[in-house]
Order: sequence, then structure tokens, then C-alpha cells
Amino acid sequence: MYETVVLQYNIGMQDLQKLKDELKAINGEYAGIRDVPVEERAEFGRKLNEKKQSILAKIAEVEQAAIDEMVEPIDVTAWSGVNELIPEFYSVTAGSKHPLMTELDRVIDIYQMMGFDVIESRQLDDEFHMFDSLNFPKEHPARDGYDTFRTEEGLIPPAHTSTMQHRVLKNFKSNLDEGKAIAVVVPGRVFRNEDVDATHEHTFYQCEGVYVSETCTLGDMLGILREFFEKYYEQKLNIRTQPGYFPFTEPSLEFMIEKPKALGGKKGDFLEMLGCGMIHPNVLKMAGIDPVKYHGFAWGGGIDRLVMLRYGLEDVRNFESGNLNFLREF
Ligand code: DAH
Repeated sequence: MYETVVLQYNIGMQDLQKLKDELKAINGEYAGIRDVPVEERAEFGRKLNEKKQSILAKIAEVEQAAIDEMVEPIDVTAWSGVNELIPEFYSVTAGSKHPLMTELDRVIDIYQMMGFDVIESRQLDDEFHMFDSLNFPKEHPARDGYDTFRTEEGLIPPAHTSTMQHRVLKNFKSNLDEGKAIAVVVPGRVFRNEDVDATHEHTFYQCEGVYVSETCTLGDMLGILREFFEKYYEQKLNIRTQPGYFPFTEPSLEFMIEKPKALGGKKGDFLEMLGCGMIHPNVLKMAGIDPVKYHGFAWGGGIDRLVMLRYGLEDVRNFESGNLNFLREF
């Protein structure tokens, strides 16, 4: 269809060229007026003008016809109008931000206010960053706890944002040389080979935190985490920790908050929000940081779970479902 239009347009162009040539010839004829007897000059000029006007009119006609025939090339970015064809409750004229991304922005804002830098994690990583750099011994059963996917090339869609710890430590090491702390959070998408149910997804979001300085303590970490959760939920919270195990921290803790009354919690109703601990000396050493001089702590936890508690959501599967009714509630 588009080709036909171009063809017609070309035919119009040929006609146009002929007319323009004629116009040129007429313009040339005006010079001949010198050879015309004076008394006939007026008539000569009138006739030429008439001819010229008629050609100009024809040119305008052909040009207009060409424009009328022309069809705009298809703009693939334009609204298709398909909206009118589907029932009203499906009609969406503009997309919107996914609720998880809106919440992630809030999370990042809070950490930035506390002075943290932000970098994003990768969605494809390698064995070294997923395990070795995090002090998982080769063949250690702790590796099985992160039942991850693998590509045929042996790359790993990461099971946690801790895959970024080594990079953070290396890339921000210069902070320490300048007498400053390393303070970085790493939001990112992570993947696990899970049986999916209301509280487990194969794809979800985490946010990692890494802090290193000469003087920091576990108490500082608990202070930062309390501050974060109280800012995020906009209320005072009771917190609790219990021992945990991660190869990359020593000691390792599970950090819990008491489910706020306003969110349907009862007294003593503690929820595990993230894993954390003092960064293992081997992890610091592997990144070229002296574990005698410097200490660090790190934490990592799910964003989905954080958001579910804030809004009283029961089924994590909604986030990845593409269920518009769910998404429109935000
Ligand atoms: N990466 C751990 C997980 O997803 C959570 C975690 C624990 C992160 C301890 C840390 C940490 O940074 O220090 O299960």
C-alpha cells in the first residue's frame, strides 16, 4: 500500500517537472517583448500572463493532489486506538510504575539520606561472585542453600545481592584510604529455583548494605537497621536478633521486627526481615582490605516482603503476575 502511494506521488512529480519547464519557457518569452511593435506589447504581455497564471494554477493543482494522495508512513509509537475495541475495565491509556519500583525508590531515598551510595546489582553473574568471593568453601553444603539457576555457559542469575559485596569492597576501597567509610547499598533483582507459593517466588528483589570503617561495630549496624525500618514503616518498632549462619559473616544474625499493631500484629509477633552480620575477615582480605585494621558489617533482605508487610499483602506472586487489577490498587 505504501509503495503504491509512493508510485503515484512519483507520477505527480513527473507532471510537475513538465509544468515547471513550461513555466521557465514562458518566463523566457517575456524577453521577446523587445521585438514586438509598441502598440502590440500590451496584448503580448496580457497573453503571456494568462498562460503563466494557468500553468501556475496547474502546478498548484498537481502539488495539492500529490499531498492529498500521500499517506503518512506508519508511526509505530502512536496509540493504536485498540482501546476502543476492548471492554472498559481493561482500558489503560497510560502505564504506571510497578509498585515494587515505587517502594524501592523509597528504600533508596532512606539509605541516601543516611549517607549511603547506591549501585545496582547484576542479573547475570559468575561462580566467583556468587560463592568464592563470599567465603563459601568449594563443595560446601552451604552452596546448596542457594539453589540457583545456571545458564549453559555456567553463568548464574544471582540468588542474592551479596554477589556485589566483593565489587563494592574493591571499588570503594579508596574511601578508606581517604579516611572515609565504605557505605553502599545495592538494590537488585534476584532469582531462586524455588517451589512458588504465596510466600516464595523464583524472582524477587533484595537490597544489600555494606559498611566498612576502622571503628564500626555490630551495635552501629543494629542502629542503622532500626533507623531504616522505623523510617520505612513510619513508626517506632521493637527489634530482635537471633543467631544465623552465613559463610560471609561472623557472627551472623537474623534481624527481626515486631509486626506493628497497625498492620495486624500481636505482641511477640516477630518477623524475620533480613540476614546480617560482621563481614568475614576472608571476604575483606579477598578484596584487598586489611581485616586487622578495618571492620565491616553487611546485610541483605527482600524488598517484596518489606512491601507486603507495609500494605498487608498476602501473596507475593502478585508482584510478578502482571495482574492489572492488583497493580491498579496502588
Ligand atoms: N544474602 C543473604 C541471603 O539472601 C542475606 C545476607 C546475610 C546478606 C548476611 C548479607 C549478610 O550481606 O551479611 O540469604
